[in-house]
Amino acid sequence: MRLGDRFGAHRVLEPKGALPRAALRLDNQTPPYDNEIGLRVHALHITSTSFTRLWQEAAGDRERFAAAVMNIVGRQGKFQDPVTGSGGVLLATVDFVGPALGIDLLPGDPLVSMVSLALTPLRLDSVGAVNLSLGQVEVEGYAILFESGLWAKLPDDLPAELALMALDVAGAPAYTARYVHAGQRVLVVGGGKAGLLCLHEAKKRVGVTGQVILVEKDETRGGTALRLGLADNLVIADASRGLEVMREVERVTDGKLADVAFNCVSLPDTEMGTILATRDEGKIIFFSMSTDFSRAALGAEGAGKPVEMIIGNGYLPGHAQIALQALRENEALRKHFTGFLSQSEPQA
Ligand SMILES: NC(=O)c1ccc[n+]([C@@H]2O[C@H](COP(=O)([O-])OP(=O)(O)OC[C@H]3O[C@@H](n4cnc5c(N)ncnc54)[C@H](OP(=O)(O)O)[C@@H]3O)[C@@H](O)[C@H]2O)c1
Repeated sequence: MRLGDRFGAHRVLEPKGALPRAALRLDNQTPPYDNEIGLRVHALHITSTSFTRLWQEAAGDRERFAAAVMNIVGRQGKFQDPVTGSGGVLLATVDFVGPALGIDLLPGDPLVSMVSLALTPLRLDSVGAVNLSLGQVEVEGYAILFESGLWAKLPDDLPAELALMALDVAGAPAYTARYVHAGQRVLVVGGGKAGLLCLHEAKKRVGVTGQVILVEKDETRGGTALRLGLADNLVIADASRGLEVMREVERVTDGKLADVAFNCVSLPDTEMGTILATRDEGKIIFFSMSTDFSRAALGAEGAGKPVEMIIGNGYLPGHAQIALQALRENEALRKHFTGFLSQSEPQA
């Protein structure tokens, strides 16, 4: 058998000794080893922070956006935003399953990668339609999953693009399921895809004695969350305005602040708003890729806030099932997300 390193170190071209995520360049040419999975790739679901950044950089021009994606993958042998370091996930059909893996997967099975594109060897032949609402781009290409790589089979009861979108942010509702308990006051900052899935999971878990609050800067998005019954209170505010967020959350919680907070925004500088709006000894899960460690750690120290701050790992056991179940059990949320599927290539 021809075996590669479990974590993919054998595919790192530069710098030698690095792991795939930290690598500048990966080998995307060598056919799959006997402990790897080979995938024919149909779509990339690019992490929101990177998608927004690249779309803005391309000034909403599809050709420039496609060229930027091709460029990054051509240079690195993977899709990793050179500025934010983040990637996303991919939608593919299984081409090859290494015999050493002994897994329940066959060529032809549709699959979503559950490890980041930032560490997944990828080559692209073409880039097609762009869906800004979903953060997805159609492509033709080939990718490799290492032995340690997580994946999920696509469910047959949900559209592939919808499942892909939920699976990209599956860690967020999974953390909600782990940390939210009945009767708590829960704050979700950012009402995008991850935020809405957190809200759904939080509403389900706090019960009638709890309270779920959304901070969102966009009135339409915030209003949608309220209309879908996902939040008890809506605070329309820019989360980078820390004092304003704290005062508003104080107001809607009678001064008690949040027991648990989830930061799901796509833009930087929102750490302090989340910290100040959380009660002493409360917990904060920073899911946003824009989170800055020193701003959070030194900011909490500077404000004398003894809060526990957790980095939202993209993976928790059962995260795929939790995210897909949210779409299955909440028809209004599923319909809302389904509305994104047809929105191709809007202007920036
Ligand atoms: N930890 C992980 O493993 C992991 C995995 C996947 C994704 N992520 C990250 O999770 C975050 C959310 O992803 P997503 O897909 O849910 O993104 P999304 O759909 O773009 O949602 C982000 C939301 O945050 C709002 N927002 C941005 N800046 C804000 C501010 N200053 N104040 C209030 N609201 C603000 C946005 O509103 P506007 O649209 O009006 O700007 C939007 O509603 C991203 O940073 C993404 O990279 C993390």
